[in-house]
Amino acid sequence: MSNWVKICTQSDAPSAGSVGEYVAGGVDICLANADGKLSAVDNWCPHRRGPLGQGWLEDGKVVCPWHAWGFNLTTGDCPEEHSKVAVFALKLEGEDILVDIA
Ligand code: FES
Repeated sequence: MSNWVKICTQSDAPSAGSVGEYVAGGVDICLANADGKLSAVDNWCPHRRGPLGQGWLEDGKVVCPWHAWGFNLTTGDCPEEHSKVAVFALKLEGEDILVDIA
């Protein structure tokens, strides 16, 4: 079952090559813009809860600013550390970007 909520408008989304911290429906989300493709993952790194939305992008991954674990933006996987973050589906509705927090 889906639970689509607005995360931001397209004009408030991170610009290409950057990430940001957002809250949607009470869930803290890292929104990433890798070369124009938006992705949403859990904002809290599973290592020690570093804020992924304050990290950076590298080779299709968001890199945690605290100890540099990198999480694939499509799968959420960090195979080097046998770790993973939740990935959320996104869709556009007019100017709004919605995220499925179910
Ligand atoms: S808290 Fe993210 S790598 Fe340590």
